[in-house]
Amino acid sequence: MALPGHGLAHETSGQPVALATVNRRQGLPAYNLHMSYYKHHVFFCLNQRDHGQACCAQHAAQEAFDHCKARVKALGLNGPGGVRVNKAGCLDRCAGGPVAVVYPEGTWYSFVDPSDIDEIVDQHLVKGQAVERLMLAPDVGR
Ligand code: FES
Repeated sequence: MALPGHGLAHETSGQPVALATVNRRQGLPAYNLHMSYYKHHVFFCLNQRDHGQACCAQHAAQEAFDHCKARVKALGLNGPGGVRVNKAGCLDRCAGGPVAVVYPEGTWYSFVDPSDIDEIVDQHLVKGQAVERLMLAPDVGR
C-alpha cells in the first residue's frame, strides 16, 4: 500500500520499497512522466553578485518574488496540485534579468514591475496561457 506524502510503499513483509518497484510488479508504469506534483512550479532567480556585476538581484527580483508568492497565496493557488513559487540561484540567463521560469511548460519570463507579475499569475498560472509580451527571447543567455 502506498503511503501518502512520499514515494515509498510497504509490501506485506513490512519492508519499505520504492513505489516504482510496486508499480512495475503490478504491471503499471514505473513513473508517469506527465504527472506533476504541482500544476505550475515557478522559479525566480534572486542571485546577488558582488562588485556590481550584473545580476537579477539588481533589478528588484526579490520584490517580484515576494509579490508573486503573496498573490498566488491570496488567490488560493498555492499547494499540491496548484502553484509553487520558489527562489533560485543564477539560472544562467542573466542578460535578460530579472528572470523567472514556469514549469512544466519551461516558459521563461523577464519583467519590470508588479503589474507584470500580476499578468503572469492571472494569464499563465490561472488560465494556462503564456504571456507572450513578457517571454524571454530564446537566445538570451548570461
Ligand atoms: S543572475 Fe539571474 S539568471 Fe543569472
